[in-house]
Amino acid sequence: MRIGTPLSPSATKVMMLGSGELGKEVVIELQRLGVEVIAVDRYANAPGQQVAHRAHVIDMTDAKAVRDLVLKERPHLVVPEIEAIATDELVRIEADGLARVIPTANAAHVTMNRERIRRLAAEECGLPTSRYAFCSSLEELQTAIDGGVGYPCFVKPVMSSSGKGQSKIKDRDQVAKAWDYAMAAGRVRQARVIVESEIKFDFEITLLTVRHAGGTAFCDPIGHVQVDGDYVESWQPQPMSKAALERSRHIAKAITDKLGGAGIFGVELFIKGDDVWFSEVSPRPHDTGLVTLVTQYQSEFALHARAILGLPVDTRLAVPGASAVIYGGMDATGIAFDGVVHALAVPGAEIRLFGKPESFKKRRMGVALARAETIELARTRAKQAAGFVQPVVG
Ligand SMILES: Nc1ncnc2c1ncn2[C@@H]1O[C@H](COP(=O)(O)OP(=O)(O)OP(=O)(O)O)[C@@H](O)[C@H]1O
Ligand SMILES: [Mg+2]
Repeated sequence: MRIGTPLSPSATKVMMLGSGELGKEVVIELQRLGVEVIAVDRYANAPGQQVAHRAHVIDMTDAKAVRDLVLKERPHLVVPEIEAIATDELVRIEADGLARVIPTANAAHVTMNRERIRRLAAEECGLPTSRYAFCSSLEELQTAIDGGVGYPCFVKPVMSSSGKGQSKIKDRDQVAKAWDYAMAAGRVRQARVIVESEIKFDFEITLLTVRHAGGTAFCDPIGHVQVDGDYVESWQPQPMSKAALERSRHIAKAITDKLGGAGIFGVELFIKGDDVWFSEVSPRPHDTGLVTLVTQYQSEFALHARAILGLPVDTRLAVPGASAVIYGGMDATGIAFDGVVHALAVPGAEIRLFGKPESFKKRRMGVALARAETIELARTRAKQAAGFVQPVVG
């Protein structure tokens, strides 16, 4: 692997499609390796754009806009950071040899749709999952629940992320409301949902899995807490039985081998005793993996940057740690943060403020991170540090 000089004809060029807080950390790692980075998002001054060589604002779901930009910039690698991209165009871009898509265009295409990835995992790879069905009308949804999915169950638009349009239903009275909610919130106007039986897990994990030039490597499992389908807290390592860890790795290896390519994957799994169920997978750094910024020798962002460039990786844990999300708490632009001085006085604590131009009440604006001797202490410290950071009108 040879790396050129940025902003010169020899430059090694990477285009990020999506430049949020996860992309920002990947950009920083690429910058450290002397890679030229082009950061793309749907709005100006996105976090990753603030640390890249160049930025572009386009509608990434517009196939022509994506292709035109690739033709203009001619990056070596195209790195999707979000799901909402015209992935069929990425497939064509890769097939035409215009750029390599990370991990592969097909992986981005399959994982952006819950129906494609669930069928691949359960029906092609034979991995254990919740009972599920896909439905295109309220009637089909009711029939699927009555016909075997049962209550409680989760209804999710096939194209959505971060818990958008997702509801948990406990009885027949809530079915119509869940259908309407999914229809209102889906990423694209598509009348299709997945309905899944609830898995009564002891805990859930993200198993960060890296496909790199030397093979497949796993990070220590990350435990997390989700509220309304969005992560609020994570920690690493999550203690689990040897059998459950082995099964988790087996599942992660099977699904990532199927998706192929190079880079990091966030494999989401449900654990009960020694049993493990596959939930979903991101072919990119995972939000719960922000904790690796303080726990690993190489964070998930450094691992992604190295793996996509064909460089060696080291997934070892250095010290236990935790992360806690800092929300905007208000709808406003150009907000400010008080209390950073107190947050950073918490032993072992760090924070990241993402620099998003616009805040919403429930928008993730930053994260508090903490190292400690135990995960319990790390969680306490991370939450304490997050609590000190107060969003205020700018
Ligand atoms: N079948 C299920 N059984 C039990 N819990 C579930 C099930 N499906 C979803 N959940 C809960 O809801 C959370 C979010 O679900 P899921 O990961 O499918 O949604 P998402 O919108 O893709 O979220 P994200 O983008 O944040 O990963 C899960 O992490 C889990 O806590
Ligand atoms: Mg998820």
